[in-house]
Amino acid sequence: MASLTRPVLAIAGATGHLGKHITAAFLSSIFQDKFSEIILLSRNESCLFQPSSSQAGVKLTTRRYNEHNLEEALQGIQILVNTVGPAGHDFKANIVVALPRTDIRVYFPSEFGVDHYGHDFAHLEWHEKKKHYANVQSVVAHMKIFRVFCGVFLEDSIGPWFGLDTKNGKYTSIGSFRTPVSFTSLDDVGRAVASLANMPAEKIPDVVHVGGDSRSIVEIAGIMESTGAGRIDIDCLPYEKYKVGTVTKPS
Ligand SMILES: NC(=O)c1ccc[n+]([C@@H]2O[C@H](COP(=O)([O-])OP(=O)(O)OC[C@H]3O[C@@H](n4cnc5c(N)ncnc54)[C@H](OP(=O)(O)O)[C@@H]3O)[C@@H](O)[C@H]2O)c1
Repeated sequence: MASLTRPVLAIAGATGHLGKHITAAFLSSIFQDKFSEIILLSRNESCLFQPSSSQAGVKLTTRRYNEHNLEEALQGIQILVNTVGPAGHDFKANIVVALPRTDIRVYFPSEFGVDHYGHDFAHLEWHEKKKHYANVQSVVAHMKIFRVFCGVFLEDSIGPWFGLDTKNGKYTSIGSFRTPVSFTSLDDVGRAVASLANMPAEKIPDVVHVGGDSRSIVEIAGIMESTGAGRIDIDCLPYEKYKVGTVTKPS
């Protein structure tokens, strides 16, 4: 940050799937002394990690928060990284209400997925994220808001739930199997966010795209085959037909 004193940083949702990796990045030796205090926020303080000896260089504290004490819980914080999960849209709306009465001047909303501004698929998750961003902008004009889009998490995304059934040798592609997809590992998302939060606010881009690796479905099949998965067949579904069939009933 531009100020001589090191800022106080807080992570909301620090106990979560992504939040743990983001927290680990901030507590790593590269970043921990860049902040005067790192505060882990949780609705259930007992869930928070215990600081280990390797985190001795940072003042690490935990705060318990809920929808009724947000203004108080967010006091003294200059940078807030929000990693609250998809079940917490209402909670995130409460954070927005509290923000104007806090010292937070740098805010990372809980994006960390595909850039849903680049397509027109209707989906509740993306709708809520857009709404959250618009609300934050309208309540705190002076606050810097930085959105980080990282594609899909590498560790979670190559599986049958996304049409990539390696065990049974069958991948399904919507549209061309040569279209690249952005994958980023959870640790790299953490390191990217920690690096950004450590930059002077005026130098952080408003929108950051992080792409650990861009691979098409045919490339992923090739990588799996070459490392012993056996033969993988790829089915291609027509993109437009699939899209029409999917978006008529938003899920
Ligand atoms: N790119 C991808 O492939 C991908 C995949 C998954 C998620 N994401 C994105 O990453 C972000 C974090 O997702 P995640 O999967 O890490 O989240 P998560 O693990 O489901 O939840 C993170 C934390 O949010 C808090 N939380 C959960 N429900 C809440 C509620 N109703 N009210 C208040 N707080 C609540 C919990 O913390 P406490 O209980 O400690 O308060 C939880 O540990 C989201 O924006 C999500 O869309 C991206």
